[in-house]
Amino acid sequence: MPKVIGKNQFEEKAEALESNFDMNIESIKTGKSPRYIEIVLTKQKLPEKITYKEVSSEKVLPADSFYLGLSMEGIVVQNISMLPHMLIAGATGFGKSIFFKQALMSLLESCRHLQMYLIDLKGGLEMIDFAPAPNVKVIKTFNEAVDILKQIKAEMEERFKFLETTDQKQIIPEVHKKERIIVAVDESSILYNEQKQV
Ligand SMILES: Nc1ncnc2c1ncn2[C@@H]1O[C@H](COP(=O)(O)OP(=O)(O)O)[C@@H](O)[C@H]1O
Ligand SMILES: [Mg+2]
Repeated sequence: MPKVIGKNQFEEKAEALESNFDMNIESIKTGKSPRYIEIVLTKQKLPEKITYKEVSSEKVLPADSFYLGLSMEGIVVQNISMLPHMLIAGATGFGKSIFFKQALMSLLESCRHLQMYLIDLKGGLEMIDFAPAPNVKVIKTFNEAVDILKQIKAEMEERFKFLETTDQKQIIPEVHKKERIIVAVDESSILYNEQKQV
């Protein structure tokens, strides 16, 4: 059997290929025949910076979604109903909190039936801009966070029971007259560390 270099091996070496050709890779696909790998190169570069205003004027958010960012193919959005959990990870100063806030902003704009709980155990200052929104609750203390999480867990269990008894798979806010609940935590490690001390 001859040794085959698969598409994934080109993908793994994408950065090296880009520097070799001094171009950016737009896409790597298997060609019409599996003997060919199609690599599309471009001189086009992603901008260093793109503002929320620019993104939102270029692409209107579909319902129940938020902006993920910009790719070579254009602005990428994510629907929240396809994504029950999300973890944002990265080194300090690499833009997690900024990304987190713009995602929350997008969701407040694009979801019609929404309750948002923002857990901010660093005194609530980070989330202060969200506090005036009527469907947002900013939680600043550990005990309050525990109480709210218990209430939401009870609501979640009730919704599971409802889905089971009515033989359905998903809550659709408009149909079931139940609001979408989003719990968002910045610096979730504070929550875990405090828990250990209790
Ligand atoms: N998308 C972005 N574009 C340009 N600058 C950014 C972006 N995201 C973050 N920054 C800059 O980086 C700094 C740190 O971002 P932050 O979200 O607080 O990082 P983290 O939460 O990962 O520690 C911000 O104050 C801002 O100046
Ligand atoms: Mg941060």
